Amino acid sequence: MDKKDLGLLRINGERLLNSIKEMGAIGYDPKTGGRTRLAFTDEDKRSRDLLCKHMSENDLEVRIDEIGNIFGVRNGSDEKKPPLMIGSHIDTVRDAGMFDGVFGVLGGLEVVKTLNDNDIKTERSLIVAAFSNEEGARFQPDMMGSLYYTGKADIKDLLSSEDDSGKTVGEELNRIGYRGSDTVQVGCYLELHIEQGPRLHAEGIPIGIVEGIQGLAWWTGEYFGESNHAGSTPMNMRKDTLLAASKLALEAEKLALRIGKGSVATMGRIKPHPDIINIVPGKCSFTIDFRQFDNVLFETGKEEIEKLIISCASERQLNYSFRNVAEVAPIVFDSEMVNTAEAKASFLGLKSMRMISGASHDAQFLTAICPSVMIFVPSTGGRSHCPEEWTDAHELENGCNVLLQTVSELV
Ligand code: HGY
Ligand code: MN
Ligand code: MN
Repeated sequence: MDKKDLGLLRINGERLLNSIKEMGAIGYDPKTGGRTRLAFTDEDKRSRDLLCKHMSENDLEVRIDEIGNIFGVRNGSDEKKPPLMIGSHIDTVRDAGMFDGVFGVLGGLEVVKTLNDNDIKTERSLIVAAFSNEEGARFQPDMMGSLYYTGKADIKDLLSSEDDSGKTVGEELNRIGYRGSDTVQVGCYLELHIEQGPRLHAEGIPIGIVEGIQGLAWWTGEYFGESNHAGSTPMNMRKDTLLAASKLALEAEKLALRIGKGSVATMGRIKPHPDIINIVPGKCSFTIDFRQFDNVLFETGKEEIEKLIISCASERQLNYSFRNVAEVAPIVFDSEMVNTAEAKASFLGLKSMRMISGASHDAQFLTAICPSVMIFVPSTGGRSHCPEEWTDAHELENGCNVLLQTVSELV
């Protein structure tokens, strides 16, 4: 088939949706309507096993690297041309929807199935990738697999990252049997994803062409005060750590609003200890997430957050500790890749808009080593990282067809 004929190819939307549903059943909790596949848990293992089975059934050669990234390779005819990789992740946050990450991986597999159905041999090899621990919900940093793959972190540091119970990535990766020693090359990278924000849905536009991703910085911290009796300790004699953390949450909100330009700050976890109704919390652990697209404002925001952590402790005479556990700078995608994906949406008669991603993605690291771009589809009501996350079947199909056509152009 020549390039013109490849333009006639379309993916099988029903098959794609069924594969997403099949994966979405792993870790599903009927009580919440969400599914939970935190990285390197039994549920993550089950989703990895399912993915590897489907990769093998579709003639992909499965390779696993040291951090458990899964690569399904479809060999091309020209070994000298570096492979085109289509990737994302299959781990989830707690009580997640079924599309975040999975759409990109199974969308890539659907592209492979479509090429196989039509007996199409490509010059470049095609690789479908599922990067380990993209979410960072259990082990930090997030996007651990792509961080490692792109040479930005030492394997020893990543393997020694601990979860709340003290288990390490290395132990858990060995336990689930996904610590490999293989790797693959990459020449360019595509990631298909749900938007996870409100814009496409609100504007009725089926395709987002992602021009860049905002920077992300995460901290974990602890305030140390004094646990004491809730009834007998006068208000002016307390060292209440929860009050300091509460103030920090409100100050972080004010900071994000003050810096503006799309800045967002979130305290997703605040845990008082000993967590008892009649005890002034003597210790409080917390997390902060700050994001911003502009490099200068990103740096300012990070500095200000750290100052706030300290000042909220000092004004109550508390001790504190905090640590930056994840950081990725804002990025801009390769303009030719952006143009190509945009032209393919237009070729398919689909309206598109250029946008900046609010969420971080593996593409944020891949772009440092090869030309990369992301394609977004709408998230109904802008909901994501919750059981209500939704994208209609025809929207998934549209996005995957843009991916297929972009692949066709690049292979
Ligand atoms: O953006 C996020 O929070 C995720 O880790 N990718
Ligand atoms: Mn994701
Ligand atoms: Mn996510």
